[in-house]
Amino acid sequence: MYPLRPSCSGLRRLLLLSLPAAALLASATTPAWVARSASPADALLAQMTLDEKIGQMVQVDSDALRGHPADVQTYFLGSVLSGGNADPAGGDNSPAAWVKMVQGFQAQALKTRLQIPLLYGIDTVHGHNNIIGAVIFPHNVGMGATHNPALSLAEQRVTAEEMLGTGTLWGFGPCIAVAENERWGRTYESYGTSPELAATLGAAAVRGFQGDDLGGPLSVLACAKHFLGDGGTTGGKDQGDVVCDEVTLRRLYLPPYAAAVQAGVGSIMVSYSSWNGVKMSANHHLMTEVLKGEMGFQGFLISDWAAIDQISPDYKQDVAASVNAGLDMFMIPKGPGSANNYGEFIGDLKSLVATGTVSQARIDDAVRRILRVKYALGVFARTAVDPRLTAAIGSAEHRAVARECVSASLVLLKNDKNTLPLAKGIKHLHIIGAAADDVGLQCGGWTISWQGKAGNNVTTGGTTILAAIRQAVSTGSQVTFSATGAGTDGQGADAVLLVVGERPYAEGQGDKADLGLPANQTQLLAQAKASGAPIVTLIISGRPMVLGTALDQSAAVVAAWLPGTEGTGVADVLFGDKKFTGTLPRPWPRDNSQLDALTVIDPLFPVGYGLTK
Ligand code: GLC
Repeated sequence: MYPLRPSCSGLRRLLLLSLPAAALLASATTPAWVARSASPADALLAQMTLDEKIGQMVQVDSDALRGHPADVQTYFLGSVLSGGNADPAGGDNSPAAWVKMVQGFQAQALKTRLQIPLLYGIDTVHGHNNIIGAVIFPHNVGMGATHNPALSLAEQRVTAEEMLGTGTLWGFGPCIAVAENERWGRTYESYGTSPELAATLGAAAVRGFQGDDLGGPLSVLACAKHFLGDGGTTGGKDQGDVVCDEVTLRRLYLPPYAAAVQAGVGSIMVSYSSWNGVKMSANHHLMTEVLKGEMGFQGFLISDWAAIDQISPDYKQDVAASVNAGLDMFMIPKGPGSANNYGEFIGDLKSLVATGTVSQARIDDAVRRILRVKYALGVFARTAVDPRLTAAIGSAEHRAVARECVSASLVLLKNDKNTLPLAKGIKHLHIIGAAADDVGLQCGGWTISWQGKAGNNVTTGGTTILAAIRQAVSTGSQVTFSATGAGTDGQGADAVLLVVGERPYAEGQGDKADLGLPANQTQLLAQAKASGAPIVTLIISGRPMVLGTALDQSAAVVAAWLPGTEGTGVADVLFGDKKFTGTLPRPWPRDNSQLDALTVIDPLFPVGYGLTK
């Protein structure tokens, strides 16, 4: 058993040992892929030079390799990623351009002496979300509202197929953060405040990505993230500090990882955040003793984007601390000309091995883990791209799965006089709010670009809520729309649909202490009110918003979260083709004093709330 933290009292020690069996038994079921990949991995490892070994431990961003792709070969790189803003050169973001770029880097890797294929990694926050034309799913806060592991699995099955359509076999997902404070800009990446729900949906997502044992023709490598406690930082500060004892840390944040390990996850990304002031990237106890030792995680750990740079002001010290703490692969996004670039990392690590600061055994352990996953995933035989999968990106079949997820994610918070469902034969429906007619707004962050962007022709294809409603209503119905609420189109309407919410953001850029509806949105409410018709308020947001007067002034209120490209799923529920089944995965605050789920006593709506009609 690991050496308990010195501050642990006897009682705590007892409590620690009584942790849920799942958290301790994960090691009891070693994934099948480990056994079948161990010997080829060991055999290859035995042939490798130190340079080749260290190269496998390095992942570089495609942008940093622009102009010198041959560095993949020169440095024997094990992986390349495309970060949130990295697209094929020249701004051509089509699947064909992605295939060309990914295959180009792969060709460099296959020119090396041992021809070890690359693992190409990309963010799969809510679908294959960097690629124009890919199906964008509801963000995890919406998937949490479905409470449905079958939908979580189906989402990642589709995502995996669309990834394979561009030759990318490694998705950075699922995010299994348990987000406590809604100030956090990544609240929408979390399934909610329940560790058990994150465990259930996260494990299903791993199985959706990987299949049962990582080796299938449609399997891709999942990457549970971000270990550990990324959603528990003080004040919801992105990349901040989690302050609590080990019993609490384990109780709140470990169950999703126990479930992901149990589901056979092949990689885990380590969080930028700290625990009691120690950066996770340098936490030997949690990465090596708990996750790899006690829980038996057999895959490999990857750092977050330049995360090791945050450990100390001395980069070489950061390299030593993070490698020795148990990180196996390093996301080094910077290229020649920048500080802390991949050439520097490699040089520093070689010299640390030469001086014995980093042992050869630690290098071998890291590389063995990486090679085992590559063999398990079958990358040696899967370097080609199946054009049928490329053609299936954005298919009607894939969109139907996302549509199902959208409908199941909507939460009905209020419905006076059974205002909803609306009749398809409604005489005149007036719709107010830009978010009703904007794929970029309904998708949110991590969509085509890192931060996401408002607009229909700047993001990706899909069906806006307005278009979906126009398709749903009967031919005789009149649907009018005003992004600003101005004009008189709404006069005489039988109902007004008011669509309000947040503009796109990602990570720390979304950290926010005031979750009240922005002034320009409450102004829309006044316009809606002027029509005199019953108001249905639809909230497009990555987290609960403080509703203020909107609640009382609306006959019905629906949380739609960030539904993604399939606005059809919203219309399905608004007009009764699908029932409301979603329930809140996190408490809904009355005001800004109730944003921390760990302290809120009497929220406006509690976790689990959701009307069915
Ligand atoms: C980001 C995120 C992480 C993502 C990585 C690569 O900073 O923290 O979730 O996978 O960088 O884009």
